[in-house]
Amino acid sequence: MGMKEGEGRTALVTGASSGIGKAFAELLAAKGYAVVLTARRRDRLDELAGQLAAQHQVVAHVIVADLAEPAASAQIAEAVRAQGLHIDVLVNNAGYGVPGSYVNVPWTDHQRFIQIMMTAVCDLTYRLLPPMLERGWGRVINIASVAGMVPAPAGHTLYGASKAFVIRFSEALAAENGPRGVNVTAVCPGFTDSEFHDVTGTRDKMGSVPAMLWLNANDVAREGYDAVMRGDSVVVTGRAYQFLVWLIGVVPRSIVKAVSASAGRRYRKV
Ligand SMILES: NC(=O)c1ccc[n+]([C@@H]2O[C@H](COP(=O)([O-])OP(=O)(O)OC[C@H]3O[C@@H](n4cnc5c(N)ncnc54)[C@H](OP(=O)(O)O)[C@@H]3O)[C@@H](O)[C@H]2O)c1
Repeated sequence: MGMKEGEGRTALVTGASSGIGKAFAELLAAKGYAVVLTARRRDRLDELAGQLAAQHQVVAHVIVADLAEPAASAQIAEAVRAQGLHIDVLVNNAGYGVPGSYVNVPWTDHQRFIQIMMTAVCDLTYRLLPPMLERGWGRVINIASVAGMVPAPAGHTLYGASKAFVIRFSEALAAENGPRGVNVTAVCPGFTDSEFHDVTGTRDKMGSVPAMLWLNANDVAREGYDAVMRGDSVVVTGRAYQFLVWLIGVVPRSIVKAVSASAGRRYRKV
């Protein structure tokens, strides 16, 4: 049997206990990468680690961490170092949404959101990127969203802003590090079947999302992985969303904003 493409390499996935992160962990293990799974729910991570090790004969490590804690990225990087691991692929995936309008949400909830969705992404990347550059090979996949590309509607105020940040951050990192062997990609899914909508409290609104707009987490992971390997700095996953994003680029801004506002009323909580 030939070598698998990930053999001898290690991938770290945040938010690996569910949804898109879990799908990335499964894909990477199937490709032969050793995996480091991190999130808060240890039972989920232990179960997945056992399953991936048995199914794909890879080493699977678990690091429990709450990314809302400002020290979490440093602790993850230290745990990686202490176990003698070199991270070749980093998937910054953990995330959620905060329903409500800006001033009706407690500031501490916003602070926590900013910490998880932006600061932790930057912090973990800052710590794990230099060794990739030293070895001359690495891949960083940041899970953004189509929400970071469209005019933001009311509600979930910081969500689109945080994803736009992740897209721009990834583009700059890709330009800086691509020539040195480290590809960086912002992956932009639309509605994806996962626990996201339960955690965010919008499950009751999801019934009206047309079937053609639902993505499968495994497809998102596969398209994201292929994009980072190709060296694309941004990828929109799913044909329907690729078409929508193209359309947004050609239709007058006033119309796009009106459509976004009406979709926001349907799918978001203000
Ligand atoms: N689902 C969608 O429609 C959709 C669309 C576009 C983009 N996205 C993005 O995709 C990413 C993954 O979301 P998903 O859809 O897969 O949702 P999900 O099924 O709810 O998974 C979210 C993951 O993030 C982890 N997480 C949440 N808070 C955390 C914290 N404080 N510390 C550490 N880990 C934390 C969760 O693990 P624990 O609870 O165990 O900590 C879980 O593994 C997010 O960045 C999201 O914004 C989702």
